[in-house]
Amino acid sequence: MAYQDREKLARLFANEVELFQRTHLASRLKHDKALGPMMSGVPMSWMAKWPGGYPVYVESAKGSHFSDVDGIDYVDFCLGDTGAMVGHSPEASVAAIKRQLDRGITFMLPTEAATIAAQTLADRFGVPKWQFTLTATDANRHILRYARHVTGRSKIVVHDYCYHGTVDETFANLDDAGTTVSRQNNIGPQIDPAHTTIVVPFNDLDAAERAFATGDVAAMLIEPAMTNIGIVLPESGYLEGLRELTRKYGVILIHDETHTLSEGPGGMTARRHLHPDAVVLGKTIGAGIPAGAFGMSAELTERVVSSLHLEHIDVGGVGGTLAGNALSMAAVAATLTQVLTPEAFESMEALCDVWTADVQAIIDEYGAPWQVSQLGCRAEYSFRATAPVTGREAADADDFELQQYLHLHALNRGILMTPFHNMALMSPAHTLEDVKRHTEHFRDAVKALFA
Ligand SMILES: Cc1ncc(COP(=O)(O)O)c(C=O)c1O
Repeated sequence: MAYQDREKLARLFANEVELFQRTHLASRLKHDKALGPMMSGVPMSWMAKWPGGYPVYVESAKGSHFSDVDGIDYVDFCLGDTGAMVGHSPEASVAAIKRQLDRGITFMLPTEAATIAAQTLADRFGVPKWQFTLTATDANRHILRYARHVTGRSKIVVHDYCYHGTVDETFANLDDAGTTVSRQNNIGPQIDPAHTTIVVPFNDLDAAERAFATGDVAAMLIEPAMTNIGIVLPESGYLEGLRELTRKYGVILIHDETHTLSEGPGGMTARRHLHPDAVVLGKTIGAGIPAGAFGMSAELTERVVSSLHLEHIDVGGVGGTLAGNALSMAAVAATLTQVLTPEAFESMEALCDVWTADVQAIIDEYGAPWQVSQLGCRAEYSFRATAPVTGREAADADDFELQQYLHLHALNRGILMTPFHNMALMSPAHTLEDVKRHTEHFRDAVKALFA
């Protein structure tokens, strides 16, 4: 267990709950009303995961801050779990979105903004052909379909403890014997994912090769660094090794850069000179207006195009009526070219360097057996003394109660962290002052636990 004094933890948490409920009365009233028409009083079930008994209701947000209905100001390091990594309502995106709102929202016809968005992504990722969806989940689903279609193989390989959105065949884990099984708490799987999926540990090239050698594998879907079980960074040579092996066995390699985009305008793919067959993006590329994207190599595109029949292209399982709509495309084109610029990434990462150094210094000062990992403008501390090498190692260090205490301590001091893990994300709008507000909270919270 990451923290031994559970009695003290329970006491500290209870104090924070009392403080939260005393100072968030307007949010409470709105939540009570919401309990009538919505399951758990929230529009989507995971919004019930916030600590404190009910979620904070947002009044308005701009840049790195938002205020709630109780009039409290927050620095937002959660940023909609990456949906708002550009900062809230950046001016250039909002201007383009407003312009498009007055000119029509969706047509089933392309607009020039799509070409600008696709060309920008092609230039940044070195992957030439792009398609657009509404979510990263859809982008993952579609590219996996294409991969199975062109290879004629049925299985995919993913990492143990991966998360790629609500893509059915990725909800699989390794059990203690190393067998692929349905992930714990997998809600209503239509079939056992062991039929569709082979799971391998992160940073394990031998396991990946054993999976590919079955001859059944169409694609390997990876985050180049894991970000959904804490951050797990690739060991030297791992990503290059996967590329070599996937080429050797004719497996399509897909980089899901939905979160790892935090490493730069071309994600880890460009920064680390990698050459996947496909790249997936989503969340923040439209500043939060729903948009996802997948890019394919020239070779993969040719295989796909030559195997599709125009007559049936709308009912093949790749699509979505609103995919590539004019509003999303206007948002993506403006956000990529005017907000998520190379200069913006530089300042985001520089601030994240400060956040990381401050958190590590406090961990060291109080002798907490924890550590921080950083991935460009994203950083996360985990409750173990050394950086995890696999998803399983990261999962074993998880401590939900400890997390809840830290998240609520932060919330009570005007700081929002994601309700999942201990992650902070910097937008182009964040300032040194924002980071220092977190540093102060973190010092107080850690001191209360360990001093
Ligand atoms: C790596 C990764 N890919 C895909 C997704 C799915 O994104 P969305 O829920 O917007 O479809 C997520 C969501 O957290 C993610 O972390």
